[in-house]
Amino acid sequence: MASSSVNLEEIPSESLMNELLRRMKCAPKPEKRLILIGPPGSGKGTQSPIIKDEHCLCHLATGDMLRAAVSAKTPLGIKAKEAMDKGELVSDDLVVGIIDEVMKKPSCKKGFILDGFPRTVAQAQKLDEMLERQGVKIDKVLDFTIDDAVLEERISGRWIHPASGRSYHTKFAPPRVPGVDDVTGEPLIQRKDDTAAVLKSRLESFHRQTQPVINYYSKKGIVATLHAEKPLTDVTDEVRK
Ligand code: AP5
Repeated sequence: MASSSVNLEEIPSESLMNELLRRMKCAPKPEKRLILIGPPGSGKGTQSPIIKDEHCLCHLATGDMLRAAVSAKTPLGIKAKEAMDKGELVSDDLVVGIIDEVMKKPSCKKGFILDGFPRTVAQAQKLDEMLERQGVKIDKVLDFTIDDAVLEERISGRWIHPASGRSYHTKFAPPRVPGVDDVTGEPLIQRKDDTAAVLKSRLESFHRQTQPVINYYSKKGIVATLHAEKPLTDVTDEVRK
């Protein structure tokens, strides 16, 4: 008989202990489903790992998933690349398909943080349909408000660790060793769309297509506004509230 069971003897004791402690910490946590909305560089990707760890949620970032597909040259990546390079949105059908799939992962058992999705009202409506089928709903939408003028400095100084999506900034959040991820020691990279010219088009897409999504959720009374131009730890405090 084919077996997919894991031989626990081969897993290091420290990893087993850490996983056990994580499960004990997570067991009593209530379920939560959050959406983070904000323009490029507003801090969604920076705050997500903090919320994820504190509330035992999974972090679903459509931008990270699409970049992974582009670099692996999958059919999805090939279709998405052109729009991403220009700072335009990828088609609704492509992103809705990937979100529907990843929300079923066991790591999303306690709920999720959607970072970068939904970005159009059509995506928000599709998401509502998916959640209705599962008998759950969004608890809160965190609206990262910030002046466009602040974003160019944030974007031009950003370095990321592609495998985890961790974000650093040369001035505001430098890694311990320049150019190197604090956790894995792997090299950091700059994103291809992090240029002043592409940022202009990303901001235009945000105001035209994504801002209406905030109105969509405001009508449901679940939007909390954050002051995303504040220093990083102050924004974390606002998220916790
Ligand atoms: P995506 O990867 O989602 O990019 P984005 O929305 O433009 O957001 P960013 O990742 O640029 O910003 P962030 O808010 O996460 O900022 P961060 O925390 O890193 O999408 C990329 C592309 O994929 C899109 O353009 C589109 O083509 C496509 N796509 C993705 N989802 C899609 C969808 N649903 N539909 C269609 N297309 C889709 O912070 C930025 C920098 O500032 C960092 O260096 C950080 O260290 C620093 N920083 C953060 N907070 C602070 C602070 N409070 N003070 C000072 N510095 C700070």
